[in-house]
Amino acid sequence: MNDYTILKNLNDLDGESKALLEKAKEALPNAYAPYSNFHVAAAILLSDGSVVTGTNQENAAYPSGMCAERVALFTVSSQHLGKTIKKIVVLARLANGTEFAPATSCGACRQVMLEYEQRQGKPFEVIMQNQDRHWVKTTSAETLLPFCFSNESLQVRK
Ligand code: THU
Repeated sequence: MNDYTILKNLNDLDGESKALLEKAKEALPNAYAPYSNFHVAAAILLSDGSVVTGTNQENAAYPSGMCAERVALFTVSSQHLGKTIKKIVVLARLANGTEFAPATSCGACRQVMLEYEQRQGKPFEVIMQNQDRHWVKTTSAETLLPFCFSNESLQVRK
C-alpha cells in the first residue's frame, strides 16, 4: 500500500489523532536529549484504546541512545503482546522551543515500524510533521519504506 495525506493544520487531523498527539505532547518532557537538545516523543494507540508513549533517550556514548519511536514500539512489543497497533504519532520540539519541530522518522524507526506492522498483519497509521510543518498521515508503515527489506527477503532460495 502506498497512501498518505498531507494536512496543513493540526486542526485538520481527526479527533482520535489529535487526542493521541496530546499524549505525545505530554510525554515530551520525558525526553533525555542533553546532546542534541532535540526532544522527540511518540505515542502509540493500541486496539484496546490504551496508549503507550516513548521519548528519545541519549547517552554520552552516542550510538547507545535510542529514538522515541523505537522506545515506544519496543515497549508495546515487550508489554502489550497480542494487542494491535492502530496508530503512531511522532512529535518533536527543541529543548528551548515552544513550537513543534519537523520530525519525520528515521530509516531505522521506519524499519522497526514495518516489521511490527507485518507481524500483526494489519496496517497502522503514522502521523508526523514534515519539513514544511505540515502533518503527514500515512495509512500504513509500509508507505514510508518502499523497496523494503523484511523477513521475506531472508527466505530467498540459494
Ligand atoms: N530522533 C528520534 O527520536 N526520532 C527520529 O525519528 C529522529 C531522531 C532523536 C534521536 C536523537 O536523540 C535526536 O532525535 C537527534 O537526532
